[in-house]
Amino acid sequence: MHDSIKPVSLDKAYRLLSHGPTVLVSARHEGVDGVMAAAWACALDFDPPKLTVVLDKITATRVLVEGSGQFVIQVPTAAQLELTYQVGSRSLNDEPGKLASSGVELLTLGDLDLPFVAGCSAWLACRLIEELHNQQAYDLFIGEVIAAWADERVFRDGRWHFEDADPSWRSLHHVAGGHFYGIGEALTRK
Ligand SMILES: Cc1cc2nc3c(=O)[nH]c(=O)nc-3n(C[C@H](O)[C@H](O)[C@H](O)COP(=O)(O)O)c2cc1C
Repeated sequence: MHDSIKPVSLDKAYRLLSHGPTVLVSARHEGVDGVMAAAWACALDFDPPKLTVVLDKITATRVLVEGSGQFVIQVPTAAQLELTYQVGSRSLNDEPGKLASSGVELLTLGDLDLPFVAGCSAWLACRLIEELHNQQAYDLFIGEVIAAWADERVFRDGRWHFEDADPSWRSLHHVAGGHFYGIGEALTRK
């Protein structure tokens, strides 16, 4: 594990998603690792922390999530814009070598058997809370966050420090068609 990656307490885990970043969803099942991009991910609850993510039926990653009952939501950085676009435009269903050709490297965090994408700013390991109706009707998946980590170069003391970090650490916010915004300036109420 990189020295700058630190655990985030579960009561602060919602803060890793509150700013609405485009994320990477990853899962592992029966020796197969998948990673896809998802703009439609959202915090859902504080304690225990929960989140939602929309996983379309065409995605290979969804099958790995359904099969294993667990997944990772991670926050990619501006430096990973191309990687994010690539894993969001190619499917493991068509390209078994998708991860390598998209520039994905995996790392291990804790003792969890999950594929964590290296180079991200934050990682939320989730247990699938099975809600078959929501999954089938709305492609909506709910996860309980069971562990979280962040890179202290951009998230420490329970909050993001985008304003002090190198711009390459900014979170990505996808609009459509490969058009992203990087997170902007901090605005604090008086
Ligand atoms: C920026 C971006 C955001 C995306 N957001 C979502 C999303 O929220 N939900 C979804 O099902 N697919 C989303 N996609 C599409 C999937 O990432 C895409 O279908 C991917 O190829 C699935 O990969 P897989 O089949 O290997 O799992 C997004 C794609 C991009 C580029």
